[in-house]
Amino acid sequence: MMENGQVTVVKHALVQHKLSLMREKETGTRDFRTLVTEIATFLCYEAMRDLPTEEVEIETPICKTKVPMIAGKKLAYVPILRAGMGMLDGALSLTPVAKVGHIGMYRNEQTLEPVEYYKKLPEDISERDVFILDPMLATGGSACDAISAVKRSNPKSITFVCIVSAPCGLERVCKEHPDVPVYTAAIDEKLNENGYIVPGLGDAGDRIYGTH
Ligand code: PRP
Ligand code: URA
Repeated sequence: MMENGQVTVVKHALVQHKLSLMREKETGTRDFRTLVTEIATFLCYEAMRDLPTEEVEIETPICKTKVPMIAGKKLAYVPILRAGMGMLDGALSLTPVAKVGHIGMYRNEQTLEPVEYYKKLPEDISERDVFILDPMLATGGSACDAISAVKRSNPKSITFVCIVSAPCGLERVCKEHPDVPVYTAAIDEKLNENGYIVPGLGDAGDRIYGTH
């Protein structure tokens, strides 16, 4: 699957360099977590490029003038637990007053089907532009279910931000949710027989938290 109007691959050299460090199996938990945070900042920065702005009158020390400001300014981040939490601090460093919702989801290791175990979203989410965060988009099951769960609360918009994606998962998101832009740092080759992205970076949750 190639980059298209719905899918943006952020090819900035810094993002690609940091992703390569994340992929390296010798990269330990502390560095991995730092890299997830840094890449999340860059990806969200890019994902917000086209947020609508409005002209607002201000006064500089010299004169009155009209300047662009982000319209509405009501954003929410929704990390998918666990691994999405690793991206939250990076996102919040851009917009510290954004509200945060959580969706808990894990993949059944046999069927690879996502299982939702928690959901708590901001009450006023219908007034907000939502950015769903998860480092890995593999089969796309977790992403699609999380997007559907957020859609039920009627947000203004949804954008999905991930670090590594697989072609089949991206295709599934594009088919089931053609209205949701996706930002990713890489589209990898494929999934292996266990549903892991190849070459990927392994289990993102385990690498962020040092579990197995
Ligand atoms: C990982 C990842 C995504 C999901 C992607 O979570 O963080 O949520 O897998 O796979 P999919 O596209 O095939 O649904 P995991 O189930 O390992 O849970 P964890 O974050 O709690 O470790
Ligand atoms: N979840 C992960 O953490 N890694 C993968 O490669 C696929 C799903």
